[in-house]
Amino acid sequence: MKIAFFDVHRFERQSFDQANQKWGHEIVYLEPRLTPATAQLAASFPSVCAFVNDQLNQRTLQILHAEGVRLIALRSAGFNHVDLNAAEKLGLQVVRVPAYSPHAVAEHAVALLLALNRKMIRAHSRIQELNFSLDGLVGFDLCGKTSGIVGTGRIGTVMAKIMKGFECEVLAFDLSPNPELTRLGVQYVPADQLYARSDIISLHVPLTPSTHHMINANSLAQMKPGVFLINTGRGGLIDTQALIDALKRGKIGAAGLDVYEEEETIFFQDLSESGLQDDVLARLLTFPNVLITSHQAFLTHEALSQIAETTLANISAFERHEALINAVRSQ
Ligand code: NAI
Repeated sequence: MKIAFFDVHRFERQSFDQANQKWGHEIVYLEPRLTPATAQLAASFPSVCAFVNDQLNQRTLQILHAEGVRLIALRSAGFNHVDLNAAEKLGLQVVRVPAYSPHAVAEHAVALLLALNRKMIRAHSRIQELNFSLDGLVGFDLCGKTSGIVGTGRIGTVMAKIMKGFECEVLAFDLSPNPELTRLGVQYVPADQLYARSDIISLHVPLTPSTHHMINANSLAQMKPGVFLINTGRGGLIDTQALIDALKRGKIGAAGLDVYEEEETIFFQDLSESGLQDDVLARLLTFPNVLITSHQAFLTHEALSQIAETTLANISAFERHEALINAVRSQ
């Protein structure tokens, strides 16, 4: 099938080209993000493949539909950027990659935590300047600390197991607790208890109306002073201004953020020459105890191969009129 790939990056082409040797689709790689202004590039394509920061709002979907597109294949797990109601009304099918490597994302969350706690970035830059002093680099043992996992689906479950491996006490909050974790000694508690008792909090819920800004001035106020907050979920889970206020007051020990609520036009871009227009992100970057990565938690060879394989299999299933096991529908 002819597929228009939007927002394509060098790091992913190889895995798609390799996986496509088996599926034989006709892939056209396009660099622009999918927005109402670029949707017409998909004219004559029955399917488009979109990434996390493409804009799949009602207007984009209407243009795609008018141009003959019938399938939206997301090469991501998250689908908060798609207007599913609009897609359904237009008769557009939406498929995604529900699971690729939960380990990739959980391990990145741990990388952020360890780098922040043991001051890796500061230590590295000091040593580059031949400053071998240790002042200001004191961290804490993870062993014996309380780690709160918000959302124990695929990724949160791996995260909980890793934190157990560090000999942390692990608390969790989820609408549907995972009995496997309970057996491993993870304790499910209401969100306010998790906030109040955790030394480290890691977010692994999807972005929905009920999780939007779940970390806000109120929840931040309930947290322990010095709490480490890690977000590899979605930027919109955190009210960024409230986080900045808490960082300014010294309430937060450190924040590791792989996602940012206004990342759409910033992440995945090289702005080193044009500069940053986003004052909120610019303020976040001034804190020495904030570590930001550009939505890269998924970025491992294993995850990329799995994403390519599932995306192309989803498209083949649509082409052959088979059941779409990875279809996304509005609730
Ligand atoms: P999942 O669907 O397996 O698990 C999500 C869990 O959140 C479920 O257990 C669900 O019951 C729980 N949940 C949903 N709404 C809730 C609420 N209001 N309160 C409490 N719990 C709630 O999803 P998975 O695969 O673990 O991924 C989680 C999120 O991670 C994705 O939705 C996506 O946004 C993000 N993600 C980020 C990546 C990155 O590169 N930074 C890569 C992949 C996913």
